[in-house]
Amino acid sequence: MFKTRMTEMFGIKHPIMLAGMNWITEPKLVSAVCNAGGLGILAIARCNAKETRENIRQIKDMTDKPFGINQILIGPGAKENIAVAIEEKVPVINYSLGKPWFVNDVHAYGGKVVGTIAIAKHAAKAVQLGCDALVVTGNEAAAHGAAATSMVLIPIVASMVNVPLIAAGGFYDGRGLAAALSLGADGISMGSRFMIVKESMVHGNFKRLCIEATEQDTLYSNVFDGLDGRVLKTEEAEAMMKRGFPLVEAFKGALLVKKLMNLSLPKFFAASIEMLRAEEGHPLWVLARQAVGNMKHLKALNDGDVEEGILFAGQCCGGISDIPSAEELINRIISEAANTIDKVSTLKS
Ligand SMILES: Cc1cc2nc3c(=O)[nH]c(=O)nc-3n(C[C@H](O)[C@H](O)[C@H](O)COP(=O)(O)O)c2cc1C
Repeated sequence: MFKTRMTEMFGIKHPIMLAGMNWITEPKLVSAVCNAGGLGILAIARCNAKETRENIRQIKDMTDKPFGINQILIGPGAKENIAVAIEEKVPVINYSLGKPWFVNDVHAYGGKVVGTIAIAKHAAKAVQLGCDALVVTGNEAAAHGAAATSMVLIPIVASMVNVPLIAAGGFYDGRGLAAALSLGADGISMGSRFMIVKESMVHGNFKRLCIEATEQDTLYSNVFDGLDGRVLKTEEAEAMMKRGFPLVEAFKGALLVKKLMNLSLPKFFAASIEMLRAEEGHPLWVLARQAVGNMKHLKALNDGDVEEGILFAGQCCGGISDIPSAEELINRIISEAANTIDKVSTLKS
């Protein structure tokens, strides 16, 4: 058993978080992690406000433990989704990509705000803005890590700020948890590892591909959804790398976004300008390319289409070799981390 600032702050048993993963972290997986003593995070970027509320209520029916939501702040729909999460008094509001405008509202009902960062200077800024804790994402991660690896980034951020840190990017076992605690983090967040558990909705074809992958079998580029990110090396991912900037697809994606979000042309441009003003300054073409990426992502997740699908996945797939339940995985990681720390402490003379 580990007692850290992370377990204390969130009132959870184990310092292990299920990383928010759009489409993947839905109520079944979130509640399984919470019931096993971890912190489950529901990703809501894919949801409209009504779906956000339904998903949150489903989780409340399936667990009485603390849980959180994850929202990417740069897209349209973020404001409405966050407002619902606040109305529902979700204990942990985790955000990525953007500036939180809702910190006081969350604190007012006793909730916690957790920012996600991948660049050290953003950590200090997030704390200044009122974040209670941070997810610190290294380059090894699935999806959107920046240039620095977890090994380098976590101790740098731990020396900069004094809030609980949750290490993300490359963590999949107890040795990783022990390492993260040694580097100055208070726990770990895992995405790729939790994609490959029994309760995960990821299609069996892609769970198998992740298990077969070595640590070399991912690609890191901005061609997949417009932001630097890491995916599993599949036929389509390699083809996208060769094709480079997908101008035609981005244009089609922009039209799709406009249609899906039911935006009039003026609203579409207003959303674009709002995104340009965001701290990271992502223009609408990023959103358009995200729409293209999401379509290919859904082909992987739902249809198991290994030819046309792409899957965000981290380097740690190279170390994953089985499909346990969320509870089996969490218990195994905790006992392995305890054994690792015992073993390392015997090396002291
Ligand atoms: C399929 C997939 C979807 C993701 N979607 C989101 C998301 O919606 N919001 C977010 O902040 N991070 C997202 N991420 C990143 C994860 O939250 C997490 O940072 C990452 O998986 C950690 O690295 P790991 O895979 O090495 O554990 C996603 C990751 C994956 C694999």
